[in-house]
Order: sequence, then C-alpha cells, then structure tokens
Amino acid sequence: MSGQAQAAAAIVRGRAGDITPRVGIVLGSGLGGLAADIAEATTVSYADLPGFSTPGVEGHAGQLIVGRLAGVPVACLQGRVHYYEGGPLSAVRVPIRTLKLLGCEILFATNAAGSLDVAAGPGSLMMISDHINMLPGNPLVGDNDDDFGPRFFAMDEAYDPALRDLLRQAAGDTNVTLHEGVYIACQGPNFETPAEIRAFAALGADAVGMSTVPEVLVARHCGLRVTAVSVLTNLAAGLGDEALSHDQTLKYAGAAARDMSTLLLAFLRALDAR
Ligand code: HPA
Repeated sequence: MSGQAQAAAAIVRGRAGDITPRVGIVLGSGLGGLAADIAEATTVSYADLPGFSTPGVEGHAGQLIVGRLAGVPVACLQGRVHYYEGGPLSAVRVPIRTLKLLGCEILFATNAAGSLDVAAGPGSLMMISDHINMLPGNPLVGDNDDDFGPRFFAMDEAYDPALRDLLRQAAGDTNVTLHEGVYIACQGPNFETPAEIRAFAALGADAVGMSTVPEVLVARHCGLRVTAVSVLTNLAAGLGDEALSHDQTLKYAGAAARDMSTLLLAFLRALDAR
C-alpha cells in the first residue's frame, strides 16, 4: 500500500516539476469546477496512478492536479471514491498518503451534504467541527503501516482548531456565511429516512453525507492537519419540501461553488500570510 503511494507520488513529482504542494484539496460532488482556478496546473489522471480507483459518480472527474491557488502550492484530488461504490474503503489510503508524500501539510476536504438545521438551507456552507462515523467500515482496518502513523491514534481536535479559526477569519473577510457543525457519514447510496434524520439530530449531527470521514481518518493517521467544508445542498429527509436527488445535489453544489471558491482562496491567502 505504501509502495503504491510512493509510486504515485513519484509519477506526480516527475510531471509537476518543482512545485511542492503545501495543501491537499479534495473536491466533492459538483465542486470539481474549482480546479479551473488552479494556475501552473499539471493534471494527472487517476488511471495513470497506481492504487488510485476511478470514481464512478457523476460530478467526480478522477484526476489529480498540482499547481497554485492564490499563490499557494496545492495538490487537488478532483473526484473521490465512496463506500457505496462497493470497493474496499482502504482505497482511500493511497490518494491521501500520496498527498502527504508530495509534501502536503494540510488537507482541505469539501463535500456535499444534507442539512439537519432548517436555518442552514440549500446552497449554504458549513465548516465541519467534528464528525460521527456511521460508515460500516474504516480505511485503516488491516495491517498498520508504521511508516505513516501509529496503530492507535487520537481523533479529538481532528478538525484543526487553528485552521478553523483561519477559516472563520476567511469567511468574515469575504462576507461568506459559514455555518459550523458536526458531520455524520452514512454508507448510502440511498438518502436517509426521516426517522434516521431525527435519530441523527438526537445524536448531535448538523449535516449528513456519504464521504469525507474515511479521508479524514487516513489524513489524521499520517499527521496531516485537516479542515473541511460541506456545501449543504438540501434539507435532510423529512425537513424540506423538495424531493432529494443527486441532480439537486449537483444543482446546489454548483450554485454554492462560487462561495466555496471565495472561501478557499481567502483561506489560502490567510495561510500564506502566516
Ligand atoms: N444525505 C446524504 N448525503 C447527501 C445528502 C443527504 O441529504 N445531500 C447531499 N449528500
């Protein structure tokens, strides 16, 4: 597994020349367009990278892009795999560890999610402050690779407090409304039932989705600092009038992509100023 990440990193490094990325970015459903803003971009298809699975979902391209955003060297995963696609969750290890081997210190993850808070409606953004893992698996189950991190590791402050401060500052500077809350990851592929959503609200969830947690686990294991933002594409089941669908996810993710891009660029500028 580590061999695949090393091979993938070597391929990317060979093509991307002298750019050493500092921030790894995962673009979620409908947010792939943000990649168009990357300057000095080198694009490598997942098909050319050992251990990278090609995503099968519309709105997920399947390529790694190295370049600069707001002057900051970045490596962007345009497309991710999901549990519901049926492959092993361990497939998440290689892309995230490749980011680490390329030199990234920070993972900035994005996703589309349903909102459990009617005051945080479709098209708005939520910074993830913590998560609940309801996926029936974990990408780190199996032999531990000591080269990347220890067998057992902590998940308190998984969403880096200092980076959350920076994101709040970036949102304030750019007048982007940024909610904050707990993300709960479910296996999908169905959207939840209203009863499940009521149960998740009682558990303390503010947003529900089908991704991100596996990547955050792999990232924390190998010592990446993590920050994550959800685009709330719908009110969760039972809370709104619109029927839930992937088309709705893509529509509102597209509508919020400008705010996400504004926020991401302001965050990177603030990071660069430190
Ligand atoms: N539930 C799960 N995943 C989602 C949702 C939702 O309501 N919206 C976007 N992704």
